[in-house]
Amino acid sequence: MPRKPEIPVIGLPSGDMPAFGLGTWRLRGDECEHAVRKALELGYRHIDTAELYRNETQIADAIAASGPTRSELFLTSKVMPQNAHFDGVMAACNASLKRLQTDYLDLYLLHWPGRVPLDETFRAFRRLLEEKRVRNVGISNFNKDQLRHALQLAKDEGIAVAVNQVEFHPYLFQKELLQTCRKNGVHVTAYCPIARGIIMDDPVLTKIANRHQRSVAQVSLRWLLQHGLSTIPKASKEKHLEENLGTLHFTLTREDMAAIDSLGIHRRLVPL
Ligand SMILES: NC(=O)c1ccc[n+]([C@@H]2O[C@H](COP(=O)([O-])OP(=O)(O)OC[C@H]3O[C@@H](n4cnc5c(N)ncnc54)[C@H](OP(=O)(O)O)[C@@H]3O)[C@@H](O)[C@H]2O)c1
Repeated sequence: MPRKPEIPVIGLPSGDMPAFGLGTWRLRGDECEHAVRKALELGYRHIDTAELYRNETQIADAIAASGPTRSELFLTSKVMPQNAHFDGVMAACNASLKRLQTDYLDLYLLHWPGRVPLDETFRAFRRLLEEKRVRNVGISNFNKDQLRHALQLAKDEGIAVAVNQVEFHPYLFQKELLQTCRKNGVHVTAYCPIARGIIMDDPVLTKIANRHQRSVAQVSLRWLLQHGLSTIPKASKEKHLEENLGTLHFTLTREDMAAIDSLGIHRRLVPL
């Protein structure tokens, strides 16, 4: 039996989140079930999904077939902005819980800002927290100004914004947003953490990867972890699932970190 990886955790207001998880956007049907099953066998314990991804049922099937108990898992889902009014959030969360065959989510996020007054969404989040249907709540795709506004409303509602999940990779180093989040006790999770592959031929990253005898994907993920972010790379291939876990077993030097920090490329893959 291969040794299960020791995955570092991030303390959230209610419980710990594994700093390394599996993203599942575009994983559907049998491919999704297979990838999640394989990931769980390899030791992944944090799964990121959303009502938008239409794969929560397959994730539940993979969990049922793989064996980790609910308390060993960390499940994140997200509500779409068009459902972000009070009744919509309650209904969307219940539907996600049902599809995921669980009675609570570890983290529930507003997928992106904009459609419904946020105070109404946060009122629903507070109800979900009180009813223990979710353990932590957060936001996604919020920029600095939107974050400040959200923090004020969350304070009024008496809830904590645990996480801001945003695009973050060596070609999109959102340093100021990270600092603002950190200053306000909001953890940042990086999505598109290997920039969907566009960084693979980057000369600086390749040089660092070669020196550590690692892949560029591993260097990117490692850079994120060493910046204190959590990360949720999506992988359907077993080779990728395993390779990405290898990120946990090496360390970038201060010089490596500085070289990646100063790549100076600003390429956003997901339009806001
Ligand atoms: N909150 C939001 O608005 C938002 C937006 C986008 C994404 N997300 C979340 O973040 C997750 C990750 O982002 P993403 O899926 O867009 O992009 P990503 O994780 O940066 O890239 C995924 C792609 O990289 C490939 N890959 C994985 N590991 C690799 C490796 N070691 N070497 C080479 N290629 C590798 C995968 O291939 P294979 O599948 O072939 O293995 C897949 O094509 C999503 O799945 C989703 O859960 C959230």
